Amino acid sequence: MTVSTLDRGILAENKKNQREKLIELLTTAYWMEIETVMSYITNSVNPDGIRAQEIKQALEADIQEELGHAQELASRIKELWGIVPGSMEFKPSQKSLQPPEKQTDIVHVVKGVIDAERGAIDFYNRIIDFCDGVDLVTQDMVIAILRDEEGHLRLFEGFLRELEA
Ligand SMILES: [Fe+2]
Ligand SMILES: [Fe+2]
Repeated sequence: MTVSTLDRGILAENKKNQREKLIELLTTAYWMEIETVMSYITNSVNPDGIRAQEIKQALEADIQEELGHAQELASRIKELWGIVPGSMEFKPSQKSLQPPEKQTDIVHVVKGVIDAERGAIDFYNRIIDFCDGVDLVTQDMVIAILRDEEGHLRLFEGFLRELEA
């Protein structure tokens, strides 16, 4: 019996180049999510003071969502015949989410989160654009993730409004 070949969609034989580019984008997004998990654990524990409590709780809840995003991205990389990288390939980049000098400096944390979420939103929009007419399954998955990030951004923008009022 001969096995049929796929000629439509991202798994088609002639889509190799697009598939490889997409795996690259998904891998970058995967690392961004992993780093966000690290940064949110840090910032859900370190901050001190009354005003820090809501922020810490919100970050604690987001850790699970960001972890879920990383897992979804990893699965999709595999489905596209890619390989999820090992930890030795990790390179950090979230400068704005490093702990502040004073642990009561909650504005620093909130601004760092806003920065990270904006970066994620920007990058997910890039993936969505790339997927247009190329891979609607990945696009659909990333649109759902993007909505979560837009929700996170909105929540932390609200925190910043109050802190700066
Ligand atoms: Fe995320
Ligand atoms: Fe997020």
